[in-house]
Amino acid sequence: MHSIDDGEVSMRIAVIGAGNVGGTLGRRWAERGHDVAFGMRDPARGASAVKGGVALPDGARVATVADAVRGAEVVLLATPWKSARDALGEAGADHGALDGKTILDTTNPLGAGLMHLAGPKGESGAEQIQAWAPNARVVKIFNTTGFENMQDPVYDGAATVMFYAGDDAAAKAHAHRLATDLGFEAIDVGALVRARELEHLAVLWISLAFGDLGRNFAFRVVRR
Ligand SMILES: NC(=O)c1ccc[n+]([C@@H]2O[C@H](COP(=O)([O-])OP(=O)(O)OC[C@H]3O[C@@H](n4cnc5c(N)ncnc54)[C@H](OP(=O)(O)O)[C@@H]3O)[C@@H](O)[C@H]2O)c1
Repeated sequence: MHSIDDGEVSMRIAVIGAGNVGGTLGRRWAERGHDVAFGMRDPARGASAVKGGVALPDGARVATVADAVRGAEVVLLATPWKSARDALGEAGADHGALDGKTILDTTNPLGAGLMHLAGPKGESGAEQIQAWAPNARVVKIFNTTGFENMQDPVYDGAATVMFYAGDDAAAKAHAHRLATDLGFEAIDVGALVRARELEHLAVLWISLAFGDLGRNFAFRVVRR
């Protein structure tokens, strides 16, 4: 453990899925002083398999999924939705390896035509993940904007928004801090059931990105 520049203690983070989202967030957290382990199916592929560069920042390493999760307090789940259950299995969810840990769920369960793949009772992906890792503390976050905005969330000198939803206050504090560390305005939208709205907000962002707006836009909350 070491101090980062605002005097707060760094966090131990496992990133499962080292693609656009996992690579971007994990690299940025490591650059901010956090300890980051990228959990990969084939860690022998090395640092260059982590999206965003050929070498890793200090404080980051590659590992198997199980090894990355073992020492982590926070687990970022950033695989495609169709791989999420397998990835939790590789992490050891069935053997209690995720018990008590914060899971930051970035996945968007979408099918053809951006159809939201809800569970049988209308559950969000995040609620399904909570059911697959029942003693973990799931927070839905980092699903409502593109990975380019995770690299740089600031437009015209002002933060853009990152909404999050979850049932556990301590896990939400982790989510809030890790989003704020990257430059987002982090806003708590309530209990994990609210992930249903966040997954639909992601559909809106994606459909706008496919249209005239392209991927270089973000949502912001303004107040008076
Ligand atoms: N792209 C965005 O802008 C964006 C924004 C918000 C949310 N999301 C959501 O974030 C998630 C990731 O999106 P992405 O664009 O980052 O995807 P991506 O670039 O395709 O990366 C997915 C990563 O997951 C890994 N993976 C797949 N199955 C795995 C498993 N069983 N165990 C461990 N790792 C596994 C892949 O590794 P291999 O190289 O081994 O296949 C790859 O590194 C998706 O659910 C997406 O809906 C994406």
